[in-house]
Amino acid sequence: MDIDKNTTRDFFHSEESWQKTLEALLPLIHPVDQDATRIWFAFWPLRLHHILNQSEDLDQRVQTLEMEGRYWLKEQLDSSLHLLFAFQYWPAVKAAVRSFAESLTSCDESLESQIREVAKTLASDLKIPESHLIGITAGAFMALQQIGLPALATASTEASVKRSSPERFLRAQLKKRGRLFSFLKTVNSKHAIVFDERNKKCCFKAINGQDISMAAGMDRRDYLSADPRCSEGPIPFQCRTGTCGSCWIGVLRGKENLSPVSEFEKIRLEYFGYNFGISKCESHPPIRLSCQAKCYGDVSIAIPPWNGVLNVLRSDR
Ligand code: FES
Repeated sequence: MDIDKNTTRDFFHSEESWQKTLEALLPLIHPVDQDATRIWFAFWPLRLHHILNQSEDLDQRVQTLEMEGRYWLKEQLDSSLHLLFAFQYWPAVKAAVRSFAESLTSCDESLESQIREVAKTLASDLKIPESHLIGITAGAFMALQQIGLPALATASTEASVKRSSPERFLRAQLKKRGRLFSFLKTVNSKHAIVFDERNKKCCFKAINGQDISMAAGMDRRDYLSADPRCSEGPIPFQCRTGTCGSCWIGVLRGKENLSPVSEFEKIRLEYFGYNFGISKCESHPPIRLSCQAKCYGDVSIAIPPWNGVLNVLRSDR
């Protein structure tokens, strides 16, 4: 069997189909991973994959889209999923999706049903609720479509994470933030911005009402040597006026502690193509431009490894 051809044929779903599938699955995902799942899908949209893969002159396209950072999912599949609570089950999810894909004989079932079937079977094997696995299983299906079955099967799997329940996981996050918070409270009205929940050093402080990008810029540690986009602080930025799109972030926890998204910010998010799954009436979406989001409480964020202007090609299609 030619696995590549099989994968392409049976696992191709359009952006619209993915959008509908995610909308249907989101209420079924445990709350601990609902926003993390939305963020992962916004960080790795099918549109980005198509744009890069259907290009005859990749260098030219990258330049047109003003792409910066690391934008190939195949190079960072495992690390891209760290932001999910369910990452602890990733090796098992990957194996289950691979096995499902290899044994698939017909594609009569909808994408949603396929994802639910894999999550349900694995959850039963692991004796955990299905809701813990739906988000990460959806991610594995998207990865399957973007990088193919052989790559999904061979992508390196990091050492397994210590197993935890969502409740214990959230308590641990709160405890960590609580410690940071009490430290920061020694100076009035400062909030903790965590940008990698796995590492307690990955945190900076924000003054009440300060935008996150500006607060990140006050963090004087060296981030440039790890990411050429980060000249000041851990979040890339260029303009701080909503123009460049460098500073986008995912908000894992505490999105209600940020200022509501403005019409201007929504328009810019759409222009950059970062708005996957954001509804028009949503006042606190999990994807923000950090230079536009003012901080009024503790927040946990994820910083995407790339930035660009995906929708600059919309009119050419
Ligand atoms: S820094 Fe340019 S959009 Fe935020």
